[in-house]
Amino acid sequence: MTDARGVIRLEGLRRSYGRVTALDGVDLEVRPGELITLVGPSGSGKSTILRLIAGLDRPDGGRVYVDGQDVARVPPHRRAVAMVFQDYALYPHLTVRGNLLFGLQVRRVRRAEAERRVRAAAERLAIADLLDRYPDQMSGGQRQRVALARALLREPSVYLLDEPLASLDAPLRFATRADLLALHRELRTTTIHVTHDQHEAMTLGERVVVLAGGRVRQVGPPQQVYDQPADTFVAGFLGSPPMNLVPGGGVLGGKADVTLGVRPEDLALDARGPLAVTVEAVEALGSEAIVLTRCADGTRLTVRTGPRPGVAPGDEVRLRPDPARLHRFDATTGLRR
Ligand SMILES: Nc1ncnc2c1ncn2[C@@H]1O[C@H](COP(=O)(O)OP(=O)(O)O)[C@@H](O)[C@H]1O
Ligand SMILES: [Mg+2]
Repeated sequence: MTDARGVIRLEGLRRSYGRVTALDGVDLEVRPGELITLVGPSGSGKSTILRLIAGLDRPDGGRVYVDGQDVARVPPHRRAVAMVFQDYALYPHLTVRGNLLFGLQVRRVRRAEAERRVRAAAERLAIADLLDRYPDQMSGGQRQRVALARALLREPSVYLLDEPLASLDAPLRFATRADLLALHRELRTTTIHVTHDQHEAMTLGERVVVLAGGRVRQVGPPQQVYDQPADTFVAGFLGSPPMNLVPGGGVLGGKADVTLGVRPEDLALDARGPLAVTVEAVEALGSEAIVLTRCADGTRLTVRTGPRPGVAPGDEVRLRPDPARLHRFDATTGLRR
């Protein structure tokens, strides 16, 4: 049993709501101590997966194993998981201290011991000076920390974090992301972190799971998923701006039964390059620029360049794709070849 602590296994999970298929056969194994990110567009089934693991909802088919144990008959409060919701779900009529003590009281932890643990968790998340406030007297970032502290106090085998950073503004999101990483390095508790944000997925996860339409499209280390996307969906979803995908190969020189892809950073402005294009727009982003171009056959290609590309809309220029970085997908199935 002990070696299975922190292992999550999902087998053929299915869940429909009326005619909506939220999960269409999800298999996944999360390793003990791993921080894995679950990323996908809105509606792809991310929250449903977490709710099924937490026991807040039941699958129509398939199995959930927590710590090596099938938890089909285990009620939510007995599962060794702690979930943090996007909207924090704090009790509005309780102070921070009351919110943090609540779960410990339910588990009949003695008052003095409970107070000690609450203080330790509050200090770790830098909210010790907020213990007497009510949720509506705090900012979103502070409420988020309280929700994390509450999860910490459950001392679970697994943390389930549902878009915990989504409602924070950019600087706070950046800081909190670093805090989450530090916390995980220290505790090494298995964590499934759900996000729709690809940057968050890439920078936080030891592995990334890409979900679309209730199916797992790819699982792997972030760089591997980026470098070798399993299908055209993953290719287009990870990367900003997205990969250029040319059905039939077209200007990139493929055959009819393939879709060829090349990322914007793998196309260079080069006077002797093989592709003739017209510049349509230049987006200067400070540290880099995005040049939007169009070929004679109408194909649009996005190019990532240094901050000052020296081209303007209307210019006729040439591009050189990096031949080692062309991606080949089946034109019908979209799968990588
Ligand atoms: N309780 C529910 N009732 C009806 N439809 C639901 C319910 N929960 C989720 N869904 C639907 O299931 C799909 C997946 O939802 P969800 O897991 O919340 O996606 P995500 O978290 O990736 O945005 C969506 O189409 C959503 O509308
Ligand atoms: Mg969700």
